[in-house]
Amino acid sequence: MTPQTDPCCDSDLMRSLGMATGHCAVVGLQWGDEGKGKVVDLMASQLDLVVRYNGGANAGHSVQVGDKRYALHLIPSGILSPDAINVLGNGVVIDPAQLVKEIIGLRAEGITIGDNLKISDRAHLVFEYHKVQDVLYDQALAKAMGGTAAIGTTGRGIGPCYADKALRSMAIRVGDLLDEAGLRAKLQRIVAVKNTVLAALAKQCDQPFTPFDADTVLQETLKLAEILRPHICDSAHLLHTAIDAGKRLLFEGANATLLDIDHGTYPFVTSSNCSSLGVHTGTGIPGHKVTNVLGIVKAYQTRVGGGPMPTELNDATAERIREVGKEYGTTTGRPRRVGWLDLVALKYAAQLSGATGIALMLMDVLSGLPELKLCTSYQHNGKTLANFPADANVLDTLTPVYETVPGFEENIEECKRFDDLPDNAHAYIQRIEQFVGTHVVMVSVGPRRDQTVLRNV
Ligand code: IMP
Repeated sequence: MTPQTDPCCDSDLMRSLGMATGHCAVVGLQWGDEGKGKVVDLMASQLDLVVRYNGGANAGHSVQVGDKRYALHLIPSGILSPDAINVLGNGVVIDPAQLVKEIIGLRAEGITIGDNLKISDRAHLVFEYHKVQDVLYDQALAKAMGGTAAIGTTGRGIGPCYADKALRSMAIRVGDLLDEAGLRAKLQRIVAVKNTVLAALAKQCDQPFTPFDADTVLQETLKLAEILRPHICDSAHLLHTAIDAGKRLLFEGANATLLDIDHGTYPFVTSSNCSSLGVHTGTGIPGHKVTNVLGIVKAYQTRVGGGPMPTELNDATAERIREVGKEYGTTTGRPRRVGWLDLVALKYAAQLSGATGIALMLMDVLSGLPELKLCTSYQHNGKTLANFPADANVLDTLTPVYETVPGFEENIEECKRFDDLPDNAHAYIQRIEQFVGTHVVMVSVGPRRDQTVLRNV
């Protein structure tokens, strides 16, 4: 059994998004948690394959179908659509224990998982030792920095796994699950080196450390491999074959553009190219094939973990937005930092990801605020900065310059058409479009599928 798609907006959806033809990407334009899961879920029934290209179980996509809320971490959000094939591309780092847990959990909810889930044999595997390393690195760095949290990672082993991928001989790929003897040899070699590194890190953090046993890791991994093996494939070949057969692909970003390892607020970023720039290396599909990019944007802004956030609020408005927007992490449960919408950062992210349209999410959360602020430039050392700076220290010390616009009192949760939104909401949206130079094609006014206002219908 698979949940049914609400009929509310299927027919007009892709036309309204400007995505009636071609392949598209859906990518967050802030620091994550913008609501990509809901949008991908809405679009998935109109496309043939939903493809993850980056990140791992650090991502958390929550999708509401009817009254039921699903929390997905690794499996693409298209899994809730009856006909979509879901692919974990080569750029994803896969924690096999988490993936199996997710498969079993979804099956228990009545979701079909069989030939509709494909896993790239070139994707890399996250092991328990990566998670230990993640936490110890953060602790060791925090200790060295005098108690300040370093990156504030999700502790899911993402950074250490990508680092091992770059180191090459320290890495294990999904394809290795198909070769028991090869996997055994690799684990024996790698676990020995890991134990040395982890013991030293643990000592620096005054933490106890029990070395990993390569054979135990192997046996646990082989058990998980039993469940994963039927899904393993050459995903680049699968995707090219699908494109040649006229199928339509949706690339689902995890994390978000300002967390991109090359272009985000480095070093306070994740370890993959989570902007749409990662689609190509993370799947093997070249740039010109992806003709549309839908940028997902919260009507305000949130961030979890460390790092600069120029428009962050620490007042009653932040509290209110956090409570109404349920701004607590899907993956870690951490309260999210909250702030006003930063148009300078948004314009930068929209350019990087090549956004052809914006879906403005959680607009309903702003209802009832007497006034709304939009950051349109920064002040730093007496100078006006019109562009998003690369240096995290500059971002941390600059002062945002705001435009204040009137808020809207009306509850908009049941608005169905763009014209139903209050005038002040229209004005807010228009200012975003004017500054960023990208059209807002969808406004989300609640978590349900039918709480979606399409601009162009
Ligand atoms: P990591 O990806 O676990 O290494 O975490 C690096 C930083 O990215 C931390 O500040 C995390 O909180 C943040 N981060 C990673 N993934 C997500 C996400 O999906 N949403 C929001 N923040 C994320």
